[in-house]
Amino acid sequence: MSLKEKTSDLKRRMQSALQGGGNKAIEKQKGSGKMTARERILALLDSSSFHEYDLFVEHAAKDFDMDKKHLPGDGVITGTGSISGHPVCIYAQDFTVAGGSLGFMHAKKITKIMDHAMRLKVPIIGINDSGGARIQEGVNSLAGYGEIFYRNTQASGVIPQISVILGPCAGGAVYSPALTDFVFVVDKISKMFITGPEVIKTVLGEEISMENLGGARVHAETTGNAHFYAQSEHEAFDQIKQLMSFIPWNNKNRAKPFPKKTPKRKYNVDNIIPTDPKLPYDVRDIIRGLVDDSEFLEIQELFAPNIVIGFARMNGQTVGFVANQPMVLAGVLDVDSSDKAARFIRYCNAFNIPLVTLVDLPGYLPGIDQEHAGVIRHGAKILYAYSEATVPKITVILRKAYGGGYIAMCSHHLRADFVFAWPTAEIAVMGPEGAANIIFRKEIKNAENPDEMRKAKVKEYKKKFANPYVAAAYGYIDAVIEPVETRHFITHALDISSEKSEVRPEKKHGIPPF
Ligand code: HXC
Repeated sequence: MSLKEKTSDLKRRMQSALQGGGNKAIEKQKGSGKMTARERILALLDSSSFHEYDLFVEHAAKDFDMDKKHLPGDGVITGTGSISGHPVCIYAQDFTVAGGSLGFMHAKKITKIMDHAMRLKVPIIGINDSGGARIQEGVNSLAGYGEIFYRNTQASGVIPQISVILGPCAGGAVYSPALTDFVFVVDKISKMFITGPEVIKTVLGEEISMENLGGARVHAETTGNAHFYAQSEHEAFDQIKQLMSFIPWNNKNRAKPFPKKTPKRKYNVDNIIPTDPKLPYDVRDIIRGLVDDSEFLEIQELFAPNIVIGFARMNGQTVGFVANQPMVLAGVLDVDSSDKAARFIRYCNAFNIPLVTLVDLPGYLPGIDQEHAGVIRHGAKILYAYSEATVPKITVILRKAYGGGYIAMCSHHLRADFVFAWPTAEIAVMGPEGAANIIFRKEIKNAENPDEMRKAKVKEYKKKFANPYVAAAYGYIDAVIEPVETRHFITHALDISSEKSEVRPEKKHGIPPF
């Protein structure tokens, strides 16, 4: 064959492989409101940047008539490209080919592109849309999952790992996304569960819809498995692009700096905290009042909203924010908010992103539900994560910092580099009402008018402790600052911490309270 003939043979082969599962399967995919795997990759990556590999990989299965089946690309598309110039490795399962099920060669393609990502030290993005382990390939499918999970774990903290759930992600398949850093879900499209509705009906006799079991909203709001929730695939891709702009390519680099910008005028940090310490406010307005262009990318917005986490920039540099949210449960720490914050702190530490913590909380949430749900074990995670973190850590106490909450929210005792407090800060073992009831119990009980005595004692306690000056007198606060000076103090602290290097005791690894 001449070169011309060989080239047209290549084109014919490529065209056949690029058809995926064929027109009927593609129509079904589109009919269910989903893009095809290739369309997804092209929509997410920079135009013309996608380079596909292993297009001609074929499955090697023989049982159940598999030797008669041709599965183009074995149901997964892999390659490299870029997002806003940021290089990435990517794979997308093709549901039109055998339901995107994971057979031996399908898994080999995924693990190969994951190995590329690790070798090249660039992020890996996985788009999941699959019926799970390819049933006909038996233990080889399970082996494939095991190989992926192992690589997810090796890559953890080395390169960013992003999972996008754009269809079913069932059975053991869910554990790859669960091992990655950020999981994106889309309303009505994402379905994630260990055991499907059919099995639940057989074993437990219960009827449950896939949506209720493991739809996008469930994972964004209730389980916390998802970090970003979108209304459409395109919205999810925009969210990924925004996220990528905040994070570095790997753990040896810092996030790319952006031009410096000032916060928008409408977020004036002077006017946000109400004068009455019992009234709530939205701490995200304070974050927006502190950061460049007031741009804040919130993570896990719907899950455990009593704590707010996310990325922003200060003087062009990425910063991770952790802030109590007084609008929800007065901003208390509980099982879920501790998990949420601790994992984010570890992400920032792994990827050289400085942490800014904004404090306003009455402590850990009391009650039998929380105690039995393991608030001791889960609450310890946040202490562990902050104590372990060696990135620059800057804390601003806005209002309440009571009890364990004061310690946990990156106090000097957990090695914050700088702790600032607003004049509205109240740093104490507990709130004035609770404290007065305990330490002045006898006086209140024996008083002619116990209510008046209680009020007087609460006032006395407030005067002594409901301020930042006792903590400042011990040096636990570095500076009491006016709200308007906060951005300046934080950016200065970030600047002078830029070469921070802190050594921890040599060990294989710690034993965090997972
Ligand atoms: C082989 C599969 C498959 C699978 C789907 N297909 N899942 N083939 N192995 N796991 C095939 C179907 O036979 C069909 O092929 C095509 O993909 C499309 O599937 P449909 O059922 O027609 O699509 P839909 O109605 O949209 O339903 C999608 C689905 C359903 C909900 C995902 O297919 C389903 O329930 N699949 C099984 C899910 C599951 O239980 N997986 C195993 C989990 S156990 P044709 O040729 O007809 O087009 C597991 C263990 C892993 O994953 C453990 C790792 C640690």
